[in-house]
Amino acid sequence: MALIPLNLFVAHDGRSSRQHVTCRYRCGDACSKPVPNTSDNEYFGEVLAAVSRRSALKTAGMAVLAVGAGSALAACSSSGSDTAATSSSAAPAEPPTPAGMNFTAVAPNSEDAVVIPDGYRQSVVISWGDPVLPGAPVFDVTRQSAAAQRQQFGFNNDFAGLLPIEGSNDRFLLVTNHEYTTEQFMHPGYDADNPTREQFEIGIAAHGLSVVEVQRTADGLRPVLGRYNRRITADTPFTIVGPAAGTDLLKTAADTSGREVLGTVNNCSGGVTPWGTVLSGEENFNSYFGAPAGAPAPTGTAADRLKRYGVESEPTERKWENFDPRFDITKTPNELHRFGYVVELNPWDPASAPIKHTALGRFKHEAATIHVADDGTVVAYTGDDERFDYMYKFVSAKKIQPGDMAHNMTILDEGTLYVAKLSSDIPADQIDGSGALPAAGKFAGTGSWIPLLRSGPGGTAQSLVDGMSAEEVAVFTRFAGDKAGATKMDRPEDFEANPKSGKVYVALTNNSNRGADGKAGPDAANPRNDNKNGQVLEITDNHTGTDFAWELLLVCGDPEAADSYFGGFDKTKVSPISCPDNLAFDSHGNLWVSTDGNALDSNDGLFAVSLEGPSRGLTKQFLTVPLGAETCGPVITDDLVTVCVQHPGENDDNSIDDPLSRWPEGGNGTAKPSVVAVWRDGGSIGV
Ligand code: FEO
Ligand code: CA
Ligand code: CA
Repeated sequence: MALIPLNLFVAHDGRSSRQHVTCRYRCGDACSKPVPNTSDNEYFGEVLAAVSRRSALKTAGMAVLAVGAGSALAACSSSGSDTAATSSSAAPAEPPTPAGMNFTAVAPNSEDAVVIPDGYRQSVVISWGDPVLPGAPVFDVTRQSAAAQRQQFGFNNDFAGLLPIEGSNDRFLLVTNHEYTTEQFMHPGYDADNPTREQFEIGIAAHGLSVVEVQRTADGLRPVLGRYNRRITADTPFTIVGPAAGTDLLKTAADTSGREVLGTVNNCSGGVTPWGTVLSGEENFNSYFGAPAGAPAPTGTAADRLKRYGVESEPTERKWENFDPRFDITKTPNELHRFGYVVELNPWDPASAPIKHTALGRFKHEAATIHVADDGTVVAYTGDDERFDYMYKFVSAKKIQPGDMAHNMTILDEGTLYVAKLSSDIPADQIDGSGALPAAGKFAGTGSWIPLLRSGPGGTAQSLVDGMSAEEVAVFTRFAGDKAGATKMDRPEDFEANPKSGKVYVALTNNSNRGADGKAGPDAANPRNDNKNGQVLEITDNHTGTDFAWELLLVCGDPEAADSYFGGFDKTKVSPISCPDNLAFDSHGNLWVSTDGNALDSNDGLFAVSLEGPSRGLTKQFLTVPLGAETCGPVITDDLVTVCVQHPGENDDNSIDDPLSRWPEGGNGTAKPSVVAVWRDGGSIGV
């Protein structure tokens, strides 16, 4: 296990350590391109100037509620010591470490390994190329084929869900997303200017999702060629439902119904529903659609729509448009409208067509996660991962019905889609872009959910946005958010509601353009210009209603730097954390955060964060992933942590022919995206 010099992590843009090659293949190089949101939505400072005494009073109830929930924190923050609230002696007592977080924090490092706490064990569950379906050939990196890849575990696993198999206490379905392919890390001798048809077809097959039965053993999780095993690829037939289904915007020559589309791409994170299906976000779908060099640029409305979604009228990185006209926007312009949705897969029915839910809108969905209100109403939270884009929620019209899969799989088709607008009473002159805490001791405020689209039975829908039809809101949702005056956020990634408290958490990963010339400046929820390290937002939501209170739980970064904040906890006792991406909870109510793009000269990792009581804000690193990798897909059970290691070794100057990483095999092995299980023999996680 070699130690690699930290300076390998010099950022391509001087910010996140994520490499340029990752940006090109994963998100169409979004960070180097113009910000798609050029709306003039006001930021908080301007909102505040206009806010009336009447409206301030109206929201006071929610604000008090939030302060009450965090009263221990408020005491800590104002005293400057996290121990002040729990000790009256001169020598402050350490706040107790909460259950689930009793492990030795892993130090920042740059090892080509998964590094875990002392006393824990790990194993690789499944890697790119491993068999998923019976008869899958043994993976050979020099003899790849699309036919083989269709039966093997795909590339670049991001989200992971672990669903218990009924009647068994040691078997689960592991459902993973395969977000994107990076061909020069897959094919020896890859020529990016001249990809072959077979490489294109391997790319199609390496995308999508995998369903793999796994068995808990003394050595972690072992994959099984079970009856539910399935590969979803970028050409698996999907059914489109909701208000955009069957409209002219979605019809193509190959699908005149506008209701069936082949495949899913760039599936980033996701969520497991309470009814046992898996949701998956189609994120940077724009980067798969392009045009031949020299093609005439679209004009007018078509050009505006492409621009708002970051689609360029030029060849794409993978050049799929050379092999299939549906990826060529000059030949099949509507195909683009059939991606960018929340996808739902029923993993218990391998013959079923997965669904694309258009009632949840079309944008760069990081994920979608569910909270069920006391009355059975389903609330789906979903972020649009783009600099200066928005946070959304969908509130169902139907109630969940336990045991009725057919009913529950229609819940996300009828209801109301909202976009978030935040405000704060913090005076604008206390938000200077440095991250310095305001006089109140924390960044906090209130907000409202602005309704955009009300979807009803049978694809019927009502637009709630002036000047846009219902199908336009469903397909060009970003414009609806612009018109609603939604708050421009620092790249909303994963959303997750805490099963214990009901509070909702959002990872805002970073935003290199916050405060840049001509871009939105800092506000109380996005308080740092040139935001390299991101923040975690806590929302006390009226789940089925339209009002909420919020505060920043973490302003990530180096604890020694003035601009970081850890929920008021003593910053000398926390792990550095940068670029939060995916969120999960353990059964104790701790938040687990995985990172993507650590800007603090260390590998990415997985962290546990205490949320309640005197240890609120305590942040401990549980593991780190190998060189060039991001950490994603965390699942935390009482006796197992499962995590996805995505794009190990992905570095601008490297390729499969000149690898940076040899993980997981070591020696002369090929770096392979993989799922890893971590456990403690005879013990529970962090207890
Ligand atoms: Fe695929 Fe937003 O990360
Ligand atoms: Ca992500
Ligand atoms: Ca990510």
